[in-house]
Amino acid sequence: MRELEPLSELPLSLSRDDVARAFEPFVGRRVKVKDPEWAAHMKRRKKKIVIKGARRLITRWLPSGQRRETEIVEEYDQVWGGDTYARYDLDRKPDRLSPWEWQGELMLAATVGATRFRQVMLAAVIEAVRPGRILEIGCGNGINLFLAAGRFPEVEFHGLELTSVGYEAARRLQNDHETLPRSLQKFAPQPPADPTAHRRIHFHRGSAAELPFEAGEFDLVYTVLALEQMERIRQQALAEMARVTAGHAFNIEPFRDVNAKGWPRWNVFRRDYFRGAIDELEGFGLQPVWATDDYPQESFLKTAAVLSRRI
Ligand SMILES: C[S@@+](CC[C@H](N)C(=O)[O-])C[C@H]1O[C@@H](n2cnc3c(N)ncnc32)[C@H](O)[C@@H]1O
Repeated sequence: MRELEPLSELPLSLSRDDVARAFEPFVGRRVKVKDPEWAAHMKRRKKKIVIKGARRLITRWLPSGQRRETEIVEEYDQVWGGDTYARYDLDRKPDRLSPWEWQGELMLAATVGATRFRQVMLAAVIEAVRPGRILEIGCGNGINLFLAAGRFPEVEFHGLELTSVGYEAARRLQNDHETLPRSLQKFAPQPPADPTAHRRIHFHRGSAAELPFEAGEFDLVYTVLALEQMERIRQQALAEMARVTAGHAFNIEPFRDVNAKGWPRWNVFRRDYFRGAIDELEGFGLQPVWATDDYPQESFLKTAAVLSRRI
């Protein structure tokens, strides 16, 4: 199992305070383990994992027990439909809080806040690696790219997404707004250097299993909870990611290393999420440089952030 490093040990200009500050607007409240609302959340989630986990134990060999493309598209067509960018509005009260933890603290927080602190981490990686061309695989409605492009206007950004609803939402935002909407500028952890940079992002529709790019086209390829969805195509997706980068890969994903035991393990199993190990990347020609899980974590689904270099 790969050793995970604290944030302070990474060769990045990034502190715990930077991460905490980005997440703070989305932390409803900090709680103790006996807090009734926290306890109710934990009970509900555990019950769901037991019931759905038991069902999957029986059906895991059948198509209905596996997370296949049709199911993913159905789910994310919903997620990226409607007013998909409203959730990033800092002035809007979040619909739902869920259990998060970090540094021994328990928090009821809005999941969308994670997009904000992950952006801080991604920006620190871009600053360290200095790529000219970047690809996000599984970019959803493009939020990570919109924020990063504003911050690094000199970089050429590409995003690839499976669902037409996610892809079209991103294209609409580009076409309908000459400058990045105010609410997204505010959501960005740092004000954009160029609020028109979102218009230059290249969006593609396709699957991670077969990327429509030449070998080594990018200097940095990244994923944020996208491999999560790709357990059924794990080998192809990792091989394709490695093929198209000539420099680095950066993945914030539920690697097996951080979900090896307890409730997270059963949650990953019941959802049929990604279960690849960090050291597995080497088999695809990606040498891990560092790995960390030192940032807020969902109590039932942990992730590790891993930077690797193409070898
Ligand atoms: C949890 S969302 C994350 C979206 C985005 N990375 C973010 O951080 O907001 C996972 C995304 O991966 C996409 N996805 C799942 N399987 C895919 C595949 N085979 N190829 C490309 N994208 C895929 C889904 O459609 C969804 O938009």
